[in-house]
Amino acid sequence: MRWWLFWLACRSVAGATFYQDVEPLLRKHCQRCHRPGEIGKMPLVTYAQVRPWAKAIREVVLRRRMPPWFAKSGSVKLANDPRLSDEEIAVIDTWVRQSAPAGQPGPATPQASSPPEEMWDIEWTMPRPIRVPARGELPYQFVILPEKIDHTRWVSAVEIRPGARSVVHHVVAYLREPQSEWLRDAPIGQPFSRPGVTTSDILAVYAPGQPPSVYPAGMAKRLPAGSELVLQLHYTPDGALHEDRTSIRLRWTTTPPRYEVLTLQIATTKFRIPAYERRYRVSAYGTMPNDALLLSFFPHLHRRGAAFEYALVQEGGRVDSLLLVEPYNFDWQLSYQLAQPLPLKKGTRLLCTAWYDNSPNNPRNPDPSVDVTYGEQSDQEMMVGFFDVAVPAGTTKQQFFVR
Ligand code: HEC
Repeated sequence: MRWWLFWLACRSVAGATFYQDVEPLLRKHCQRCHRPGEIGKMPLVTYAQVRPWAKAIREVVLRRRMPPWFAKSGSVKLANDPRLSDEEIAVIDTWVRQSAPAGQPGPATPQASSPPEEMWDIEWTMPRPIRVPARGELPYQFVILPEKIDHTRWVSAVEIRPGARSVVHHVVAYLREPQSEWLRDAPIGQPFSRPGVTTSDILAVYAPGQPPSVYPAGMAKRLPAGSELVLQLHYTPDGALHEDRTSIRLRWTTTPPRYEVLTLQIATTKFRIPAYERRYRVSAYGTMPNDALLLSFFPHLHRRGAAFEYALVQEGGRVDSLLLVEPYNFDWQLSYQLAQPLPLKKGTRLLCTAWYDNSPNNPRNPDPSVDVTYGEQSDQEMMVGFFDVAVPAGTTKQQFFVR
């Protein structure tokens, strides 16, 4: 008998209870989303809230549908892997099969996790709401937040908080530096839409399931004096009219960090995914212009996305996989944070590969009968491998790209 089966047998005799055994697991693995105000439909905090869901909880944890996580393989160890261990699943299984008893809320039971409000120094909200119609497609909306950054600030944590969660498909917060000409003629604080690309650095990205970005000790994002935050918002109408006022929360650090964090991307817009194609591959690579420490990955594809891989191309051409995300799930765009920063030498080639499923087998495919090219809307495709790196503090993105 494997040791944990033996352990499980002991547990079954002793019995698992909500307060002793299950509540700590929910706190650790589930309440980030399943608490009031977060994306999980129902809070899973109190016994009264959890009890009616007991059977469904057993089902989703045994099938590993919850918590959502799609890292399949690769050489990097990940810091934010939220999965339950086999033993933890066994505890929930036992508890539900024994009719989910409450047990005693002992004095040792810590309080249910509440949002760590005190960790944030500031929260900036869009001054006006954006009306999201019930139907149709909206071009990307932009809002330049009116707050100016008076002197250089260091951000050690950042979170984008959508207002109308059900229709906010993604948000990118860009940092517009004072010398940038990007959207200079656009109004401040009012939504507008405008096609085009920018080289501005990205402060943060939101997509469903994305936790706040908290940078490792000694590392932070720099907000240069005089810069502004520009939000790019993508809404996907859900059948009802909504008004969204998204906000962004920041935590400052006053001690200047040793490293600053840059968000980079390897992307391509040049592809055509044939109709009915089951597994179509698109690759793009980038060469590190200078030394950097690799911190995290955030792949971004649309509805036909099936898998995404980050890999290193070695000198002789050998490809070593760092992370394979499979299946890629459009409804869950997660970031994958390395447990240990990985040093990348100047000249390192980073290869990103995306696979798409444009067949009728893909339940998210809006139309398998068409060839699909690049576009901003979800029924068009994208291929972007975002990744965060740390570079010595004081290096701007422009300087980093000087070889
Ligand atoms: C990253 C956020 C997130 C985490 C972490 C998370 N959930 Fe969920 N969960 C959701 C969302 C959003 C839904 C509704 C959408 C869906 O079903 O995909 C959901 C749905 C569910 C459902 C309903 C499934 C159904 O078929 O209707 C159950 C049960 C559930 N979660 C249990 C859990 C448990 C137990 C954990 C921890 C072990 C957990 N979740 C962790 C976000 C999360």
